[in-house]
Amino acid sequence: MAVQRTFSIIKPDATRRNLTGAVNATIEQAGLRIVAQKRVLMTRAQAETFYGVHKERPFFGELVDQMTAGPVVVQVLEAEDAIARYRAVMGATNPEKADAGTIRKLFALNMGENTVHGSDAPETAAIEIAQWFSENEIVG
Ligand code: RTP
Ligand code: MG
Repeated sequence: MAVQRTFSIIKPDATRRNLTGAVNATIEQAGLRIVAQKRVLMTRAQAETFYGVHKERPFFGELVDQMTAGPVVVQVLEAEDAIARYRAVMGATNPEKADAGTIRKLFALNMGENTVHGSDAPETAAIEIAQWFSENEIVG
């Protein structure tokens, strides 16, 4: 497996509780390298674009509310097999179902306020990275 990039968001529930460093430590301990990072306040339009795939889902409005409720940290992570590696360390979407030691088991509050986002496939990773970073902001 070649070196791969994935896109990550440290969500508002985590920045609110001052957990950016704790989440980043877990990411780095899992062998992922943070090769780009910035703290931003998403607009509703940016959140609606980002989660456009979910716009027909019943939780879409709540999801956009939660993602715009406070600052987020958007990141590009790099590693061999980064997409699957990050999904594994994130844990299940519902923190009650997340394995011990995962970010969501350690830190998430509930299904919506679940601390992190990670891309689910190479195609979505490329689209998500391009929404937030230009290539010269990513330094591997
Ligand atoms: P993410 O996209 O944020 O990395 O999370 P995921 O793949 O594990 O979950 P996904 O199905 O893509 O859902 C995106 C986000 O929407 C919220 N959600 N709420 N209330 C609900 O039933 C529900 N289901 C999903 C979560 O914040 C989830 O991370
Ligand atoms: Mg997802």
